[in-house]
Amino acid sequence: MLFMCHQKVMKKEAEEKLKAEELRRARAAAEIPIIWILGGPGCGKGTQCAKIVEKYGFTHLSSGDLLRNEVASGSDKGRQLQAVMASGGLVSNDEVLSLLNDAISRAKGSSKGFLIDGYPREKNQGIEFELRVAPADLALYFECSEDTMVQRIMARAAASSVKRDDDNEKTIRARLLTFRQNTNAILECYEPKTLTINAERDVDDIFLEVVQAIDCVLKKKQQNAAQC
Ligand code: AP5
Ligand code: MG
Repeated sequence: MLFMCHQKVMKKEAEEKLKAEELRRARAAAEIPIIWILGGPGCGKGTQCAKIVEKYGFTHLSSGDLLRNEVASGSDKGRQLQAVMASGGLVSNDEVLSLLNDAISRAKGSSKGFLIDGYPREKNQGIEFELRVAPADLALYFECSEDTMVQRIMARAAASSVKRDDDNEKTIRARLLTFRQNTNAILECYEPKTLTINAERDVDDIFLEVVQAIDCVLKKKQQNAAQC
């Protein structure tokens, strides 16, 4: 009799522990923002992400960097990715999303928020991300003229000791075409959660607007978490 009673108490304790853990996870998920960073090649996505990381300590996941890491590994898959990237086209979403998903899973426990830089690049990427990973809280779209973007990439290439394979005029033109073909559909689909920012300005002026948008998301997240 005493043994059964003890077992019941243990079971109840285990259930309560599980509930507390589920609640902690729900709170954590509600608190951690996911922000998509959109914009054409060279518009300044990486530059603004670096500033966001500095201020908020978020985890910066650039789809381009994850793909370049895979290329640098010298694997067969890397060689296939390199060919697509050198053509200025889009790598298959299965590849990109699985790299992103793995990186998110690795950082989840300790992250204060995720910046998903260069994703989605076409509408279905967004849809699949929200189904397989989590809904995005905000999309920041850095709007910039093609002339400015080309100038910025060429200047970056000239100043850098390690030039990116896709930072040449032919591939830049192809990257711009890919961007032009896909972006309107993304902006239409995610209009309610997208903030378009004029990226033709000084880096710090752009960042002021970025900060306002992120602070707003963080405030909403805190309110939601308080209701969990
Ligand atoms: P990715 O690496 O993402 O390249 P990208 O989108 O072409 O953009 P960049 O990284 O070149 O530019 P950025 O916007 O980060 O600008 P940055 O801050 O460096 O993708 C590469 C390839 O990978 C794709 O083409 C595709 O093949 C593949 N890929 C990636 N994601 C994919 C996906 N989701 N699906 C399928 N395939 C995918 O700034 C550029 C320069 O400008 C710097 O020198 C900077 O100092 C300067 N600068 C920045 N802001 C300013 C400012 N406000 N004023 C003056 N200068 C500025
Ligand atoms: Mg970049």
